[in-house]
Amino acid sequence: MAEGKTGTTKVLMEETRIFEPPKDLAENCNAWQWGKKKGFKTEKEMRAWCGEHYLEFWDEMAKTYADWFKPYDKVMDDSGMPYFKWFTGGKINVFYNSVERHIKAGKGAKVAYHFIPEPTDQAEKAYTYQEIYETVNKLANGLKGLGVVKGDRVSIYMPMVPETAMAMLACAKIGAIHSLVFSGFSSKGFGDRVDDCQAKVVFTSDGFYRRGKPLPLKPQADEAIKEIGSVKNVIVLKRTGLEVPWNQGKDIWFHELIKDQSAECKTEELDAEDRLFILYTSGTTGKPKGIEHAHGGYCVSPPQTLHWVFDLKEGDVWWCTADVGWITGHSYVVYAPLSLGATSIMYEGSPDFPDFGRWYKIIQDHKVSVFYTAPTAVRMLMKQGEEWPEKYDLSSIRLLGSVGEPLNPEAYMWYRKNFAYDKAPIMDTWWQTETGCYVISPLPMTPCKPGSVAYPLPGFNTTIFDEDGNEVPLGEGGNIVNPTPWPSMLRAFYKDEVRYKKEYWEMYWNTKPGTYLAGDKATRDKDGYWFVQGRIDDVLSVAGHRIANAEVESSLVAHAAVSEAAVIGKPDEVKGEAIVAFVILKKGVSPSDDLAKELKTHVRTTMGPLAIPAGVFFVDDVPKTRSGKIMRRVIKAKALGNPTGDTSALANPEAVDGIPLI
Ligand code: WT7
Repeated sequence: MAEGKTGTTKVLMEETRIFEPPKDLAENCNAWQWGKKKGFKTEKEMRAWCGEHYLEFWDEMAKTYADWFKPYDKVMDDSGMPYFKWFTGGKINVFYNSVERHIKAGKGAKVAYHFIPEPTDQAEKAYTYQEIYETVNKLANGLKGLGVVKGDRVSIYMPMVPETAMAMLACAKIGAIHSLVFSGFSSKGFGDRVDDCQAKVVFTSDGFYRRGKPLPLKPQADEAIKEIGSVKNVIVLKRTGLEVPWNQGKDIWFHELIKDQSAECKTEELDAEDRLFILYTSGTTGKPKGIEHAHGGYCVSPPQTLHWVFDLKEGDVWWCTADVGWITGHSYVVYAPLSLGATSIMYEGSPDFPDFGRWYKIIQDHKVSVFYTAPTAVRMLMKQGEEWPEKYDLSSIRLLGSVGEPLNPEAYMWYRKNFAYDKAPIMDTWWQTETGCYVISPLPMTPCKPGSVAYPLPGFNTTIFDEDGNEVPLGEGGNIVNPTPWPSMLRAFYKDEVRYKKEYWEMYWNTKPGTYLAGDKATRDKDGYWFVQGRIDDVLSVAGHRIANAEVESSLVAHAAVSEAAVIGKPDEVKGEAIVAFVILKKGVSPSDDLAKELKTHVRTTMGPLAIPAGVFFVDDVPKTRSGKIMRRVIKAKALGNPTGDTSALANPEAVDGIPLI
């Protein structure tokens, strides 16, 4: 095994279970329809050909999935590496592709979103493509009236409501660049991001609902921007009716802004490379990075990957539970499903309101057929037990999905059983804010292994490199890399060329120039199945061996008593690092010394002696980012008695207090 932070890691646990997809699904899925037409004999052959001929592949996808105002001259231009350009010379607009073309095709009456308010006494509302088209046009006219022009930045600090998607689309339509900040972020978090991109206009709401209560949002927005001179106007959506402070001359109600506007507005014909949005990543360390994405790429790989991986068909009801404020929401709540003309669920609130049956009830009521969520949500529901899903009819589900973290095999099995009676395959999709679309994932025809994201998708040459840029053999691990570019890739870091080059491209610049370093580690088993091990930084070094934190966590979660686990390394004179685990137990299980011992034995049995935690601590909660990632850095600092630093990005800062000194 290689040494060093980004060295290779070894697979300690081997997964032998394999789930074949239902025959019918495998045979008729969108991806294989294409593959068969092309004459491929196997999925493997198809994936290999598409990687090898990736430019030809993306060229065809760009023509299949997007409508162009003017065709492009060149599929990809790498002359300015690492600034890659796609579809140069082409004119396009993601609003046209997401909404306008469906109206032109006579599909305006189809429902784009079933909006489900959190309070159960408020009526649900269906938004058709026609309604979205008209409101976005009015809003775009309103923005123009405020002086917003192509290239201007617009910050959006709004809850999970259809108007947020419409604000994004209105910006896209006129060529303004949107920058969403998740509404759960603090005022300071929002202000830093508005300031960084120097937004001209801000969207916010009077408030939002969370666990049945209306909470204010506008005051946080006001506080955030009070000293930011670039912001000329604040557009305020009335969602809760809460009273709001008002700045005369600067603030405008959303409904007032669109009231007298025309429902027609010309869509800007943009260059494929014109920027669509900036999204600041929820990185677990350091200052947030403003990832830039472009119109052309966004019209191609998000819809294509959604169509292939989740197999959306005319009658499907798609539910991606992510908030629009994250990349998953950008790609798979807004741009991709709209582009495919799909019907989606948009639910405003939390999964436990009014009780833990809420999500299951929504699936039952709306006959959701394809459901996509995050492991942290699955584990949270798993903790509540099977009695909740048992109360509902979830037979409409035909495909499941997961994203954001490794889906531990234990959670995988629970998800399969309780959301879809073991009938629906799980598409565990690996990707990033930077990639814009799925990169490694099963297709509906892929036999799946629990905990595995299967293989790189068609059009990607994603592989695993050691530190010197050599591909590592099966059975070993290393850095996830993309040696070739893809359409919805990040284009830059907003105003930070140095970090852009350093973080993604420097590592292999001398050995394999133009190779994208994802910042994650992964291994492949002997059959070539990929297992994502977590971020490069989340790696333990025990007695000279590198062990992925996520793998030890996975082993712990596989024990019947454990609901969730966070693993850190404690400096150890002999071993370099000793493994310490913070464990959340399932409801009804009591902590004890015997149980701690049992868990150590359990890790020993599943992973080997090297991975045995030196310490097991039982806690009620662990600190997480708002997107559900365990903040091991903060846990480690608190446990070792060091300053925890900036905890403003945490969803549950109070969990830090519960972490004991070790
Ligand atoms: C990081 C990207 C892009 C979706 C949401 C998060 C981790 C993402 C998986 C997966 C294991 C995963 C990686 C990646 N990740 N999907 N299926 N299995 N890990 O977006 O905030 O940009 O985070 O999430 O570590 O680098 P993000």
